[in-house]
Amino acid sequence: VPRAFRTQLTVGAACLLALFLAAVFFAARETFKEQLLALQEQSRVTAQSLMAAAEAGHLDREKIADAILRLPVPADGVVAVLDVPTGTVVASRGDAAAVSTLRIEELNAPVSRLDGDGVRRSYGSAFTTDGLCRVVVGLPRRMAWERTQPVYRRNAINAGAWYVLSIVALYFFLARWVRSVGQLEAMAVRVSAGDLRTPPSQPMPTSELEQMQQTMVDMITRVRELQLQVVRQERLAAIGVLVSGVAHEINNPLQSILGFTEVLEARTDLPPGVHADLAMIHTESARAGSIIRNLSRFTRQQPLDPSPYKLTDLVAWVAELRQRRLAEEDIELVIEDRATSSVNVVSSEIQQVALNFVINAEYAMLNAAPAERRMTIRTRDVASAGRLGSSAFVRFEVEDSGAGVRPGDEAKLFQPFFTTKPVGDGTGLGLSVSYGIIQSYGGEIGYAQSATGGAIFYFELPAISPSGRAPLRQGF
Ligand SMILES: Nc1ncnc2c1ncn2[C@@H]1O[C@H](COP(=O)(O)OP(=O)(O)OP(=O)(O)O)[C@@H](O)[C@H]1O
Ligand SMILES: [Mg+2]
Repeated sequence: VPRAFRTQLTVGAACLLALFLAAVFFAARETFKEQLLALQEQSRVTAQSLMAAAEAGHLDREKIADAILRLPVPADGVVAVLDVPTGTVVASRGDAAAVSTLRIEELNAPVSRLDGDGVRRSYGSAFTTDGLCRVVVGLPRRMAWERTQPVYRRNAINAGAWYVLSIVALYFFLARWVRSVGQLEAMAVRVSAGDLRTPPSQPMPTSELEQMQQTMVDMITRVRELQLQVVRQERLAAIGVLVSGVAHEINNPLQSILGFTEVLEARTDLPPGVHADLAMIHTESARAGSIIRNLSRFTRQQPLDPSPYKLTDLVAWVAELRQRRLAEEDIELVIEDRATSSVNVVSSEIQQVALNFVINAEYAMLNAAPAERRMTIRTRDVASAGRLGSSAFVRFEVEDSGAGVRPGDEAKLFQPFFTTKPVGDGTGLGLSVSYGIIQSYGGEIGYAQSATGGAIFYFELPAISPSGRAPLRQGF
């Protein structure tokens, strides 16, 4: 049993005990008060009955004394008949010390007093019709107490039974709570120890705990995604540094090869056939040069000045550039341009990203039936793309009706040199360079499968406020 559980149970039990004891005590006190009033009434009624009997016997002293003895008054009770004009005791029964102190004037209000014999009594009285005699009856207060006791006992037994029931209920209630909170705690401990597997959901006693468990599960899932993302990004960043270093080193010898090739091509004394070979060397070196240029973009050597740029202009630019090609290939182009915000970028870089999306999409649809070739270019403003904080972003995406990306390839899409195109057709650098560009602006680039199974490639960039400054990025 966890210590917290025992403490809670002890505290709960103590509080309940205090509550029940108080209830029993106050209920009994009320009963006692009622019994005291009843006692007062009883002494008055007894006095009246004696009065009636005495009047019926014409106030004969002996008959009065006889009637006094037959009254239902306990041994420690007091009965007295007083002569009103003289104030003397005509007849009495009970403790002499108590009787001797009875005064007519004292008895006009209901009296409850401590008598000379140490007994507290409630007095009631009645006058004869001629007003000459007064009958007084004093009943001991203990009678009220004795009548209260059974009520007291019954209340205590009832309360005891309820108390036991409440403790059992409290035990089960607390046990459920403590177990559930313990499960949540275990979950948190596991996460802090680095275990990011989704924990199994347990039934929870309240919707608040249910909610808390769900939040923790969501949190774990999110942290796991972020961790994967960080790992992937770090790998890409490392590759980027390596690749741009290599690209830089290779560029110099490549330029020499190109230079010397041009020198050789200019010579006229070479045997025929050599010129064709030189042309081949020239073309291939130039191709290698363009790959190298692409590669060196991984880490931007000279920072360029970004300026506000509308995504509408980007859509117009890429649509115009590819219009003829799209028409030739029977690809229907749909434009859904809804973005209103601008982004702060170097336009040539962002154009390169958009162009690569579009050319990839065209390529992906080569094998589709001409009637089903459709490309959609969309832009829109997004409030916050699942990031922390609420900064605004702008989204650009290209959807195609091609066959999409094989599930196994999804994770590799943005890695350098990943290509499914035949050798010579693609370098596999387009998306990885795009990744680097979008990343450098604090944006997000990604792939999603479209509803029809084709591909959607998108990027989201921080929108700029009307003042032209990029908003502060928060969170990750
Ligand atoms: N719209 C698309 N539909 C299906 N697969 C795609 C799409 N776009 C990209 N891919 C896949 O991603 C791979 C990598 O694309 P990326 O643009 O990086 O290189 P590439 O197009 O193969 O070569 P390059 O862009 O250098 O000519 C492609 O080879 C292809 O397998
Ligand atoms: Mg490409």
